[in-house]
Amino acid sequence: MHKLFTARVIENRPVNHKNYLLTAQPLAATAAPLPGQFYMIETARSLDPLLKRPFSYFRRTPDTLQFLYALKGKGTALMSTLATGQEIRVIGPLGTGYPPPPKGTAPLLVAGGLGIASLFSFAETLSKKLCLLYGARCRSDFLMLDEVDKLGCEVVTCTDDFSFGKGGKVTDVVSDFLSSSPKKRYTLYACGPLPMLAAVSDTARRHKIRGFVSLEENMACGFGACLGCAVRTVRGYKRVCKEGPVFPIEEIVW
Ligand SMILES: Cc1cc2nc3c(=O)[nH]c(=O)nc-3n(C[C@H](O)[C@H](O)[C@H](O)COP(=O)(O)OP(=O)(O)OC[C@H]3O[C@@H](n4cnc5c(N)ncnc54)[C@H](O)[C@@H]3O)c2cc1C
Ligand code: FES
Repeated sequence: MHKLFTARVIENRPVNHKNYLLTAQPLAATAAPLPGQFYMIETARSLDPLLKRPFSYFRRTPDTLQFLYALKGKGTALMSTLATGQEIRVIGPLGTGYPPPPKGTAPLLVAGGLGIASLFSFAETLSKKLCLLYGARCRSDFLMLDEVDKLGCEVVTCTDDFSFGKGGKVTDVVSDFLSSSPKKRYTLYACGPLPMLAAVSDTARRHKIRGFVSLEENMACGFGACLGCAVRTVRGYKRVCKEGPVFPIEEIVW
């Protein structure tokens, strides 16, 4: 099955002041993505920006793929103007997905802000026994909370500015959560800003639990050819687009 395909925009709507949800229908048969994998998306039918941009898929329905994205620079600004019916070229699914939790451990998902875009589809595949810790800077930064509620699992929300859920950073909430249930065995899965991932990984190490982080890097090709997305790991440099974006916590040199 070809990884390069054309998709038709079904809907492209804002979900809050700086984030959009793009729903696109592939016009050819495409491989089923694993939660945590991503796609390279053509943000506009023009030569500028030339490069496609990487996005985790938020959700897959029988006919469509959904992407939750933030306005960052030129590519995403143009992407937000894609109209229903427009066609875009897409490559994917790419990279590695989240591995299932080893037997005897419960999944603990930690999303920081837009990190929910990558973890949501994984949460959908897990039993309701998972726990999702979801942090944002402030109340208006939470994304797709209605959909998150429908997962039916334990969800703990927190905000840096104390405006919603528990007060404080999600990294502190993870630490408190693990300290309050020392006997339970977890596998941790985290996606969010790099400093959050580094802090959460440190907490996981202190609590002797294993886990996985999904990393982001600027990407040019998205499929392993340019080496532009390499990160340092304990086994040398690895490409976020090929050996990642999901890596075991213990592999990353922060
Ligand atoms: C595997 C992967 C999955 C991703 N999933 C999502 C997602 O689901 N939703 C979403 O909104 N974004 C996601 N991103 C980030 C997204 O690719 C960038 O925000 C996007 O490429 C910015 O494009 P732009 O042209 O608007 O901004 P640009 O003009 O290219 O850049 C604007 C600013 O953002 C910085 N930037 C660009 N790309 C990245 C990046 N990958 N990491 C950190 N900083 C970056 C640039 O250095 C610059 O400062 C993902 C990135 C990766 C690598
Ligand atoms: S983006 Fe080219 S090797 Fe990863």
